[in-house]
Amino acid sequence: MNPQMSLIETLQGLESEALSAIRASLDADGLETIRISYLGRKDGRISLILRKLGEIDDNERRPVGAEANRVKVAIRDALEARLVHFESDGSAESSGDDLTLPGRRRWIGGSHPVTQVVDEIWQIFRSMGFVRARGPEADTEWYNFVALNTPLDHPAADEQDTLYLKDSVLLRSHTSPVQVRTMEKHEPPIRILAPGMVYRRDTYDATHTPAFAQIEGLVVDEGVSFVDFKATLAEFARRFWGPGTKVRFRPSYFPFTEPSAEVDVKRMITLKDGTRVESDWIEIMGAGMVDPNVLENVGYDAERYTGFAFGMGPARIALLKYGVPDLRLFFQNDVRFLSQFTHGPDQ
Ligand code: DAH
Repeated sequence: MNPQMSLIETLQGLESEALSAIRASLDADGLETIRISYLGRKDGRISLILRKLGEIDDNERRPVGAEANRVKVAIRDALEARLVHFESDGSAESSGDDLTLPGRRRWIGGSHPVTQVVDEIWQIFRSMGFVRARGPEADTEWYNFVALNTPLDHPAADEQDTLYLKDSVLLRSHTSPVQVRTMEKHEPPIRILAPGMVYRRDTYDATHTPAFAQIEGLVVDEGVSFVDFKATLAEFARRFWGPGTKVRFRPSYFPFTEPSAEVDVKRMITLKDGTRVESDWIEIMGAGMVDPNVLENVGYDAERYTGFAFGMGPARIALLKYGVPDLRLFFQNDVRFLSQFTHGPDQ
């Protein structure tokens, strides 16, 4: 073999050997040992070859010398880069990091307090045999008002209160149109719960927002009575607010129910010192027996079927449940506020 070739191969072998030793080195002392063994002036393995250059033929000296210099520079650069790495953040000791500091906490999300209330309400009705229903947020005057026994000259249909898109198309002002859409598609028995967003021309303040969630419920079957109505909603209230809760049905008016009621609860609150006191009466929903006109509007036989319906606002319920003073806090998405609800109410 050509002696010039074998020297070049030897140099390249030394180069890869040195580079892997540098990669494997753990600290500056280790690097110094490597430097001495390859580049040391006296016994460094590259230096020895460079020193022997004088002994080889003139025309072979040039390529071997060039390669020896290249390898020397490569090893020197690698040593330097590794040293800089140790001096910055590569080595915990030399970086000055405080290893006793606690680690960064993982950012864990949670569901929004209003979503939690919707889920809780849904679980209770689901266990009573209700199924979920949904309808469009952009709907027509027919579904939002007329089919629900609400004439268009009724104040609720006024453009002052309702967001119209065009002509008779509007953003639904309540979830009650889902009652109509469900009954149109299905024969009784009906037992649905329909959570969804609704829209009104309201000013944004502590108790109003122009877009908010509602939960609609509807039960229709043969023989559904006023007792079923009261018992179902009282059972819901006690499961949601606690066993000691009192429930009151206060006469009211809605165009789509007859008779109509507003449902109030008075709940038991445990004070910090452990004593139990009663809250004030708080209104939690509107409800009533489905007006026979509504049943007829969807083609049901109102002689044969009866039912009850209810509608509630989960944000309002969340507000009462958690003692939040201003509805807008639920919309600002300030994580300092929202994270309080990640582990349930602090009561
Ligand atoms: N739709 C009513 C509202 O938005 C709430 C309501 C009241 C729904 C009585 C009902 C009901 O189903 O029976 O204020």
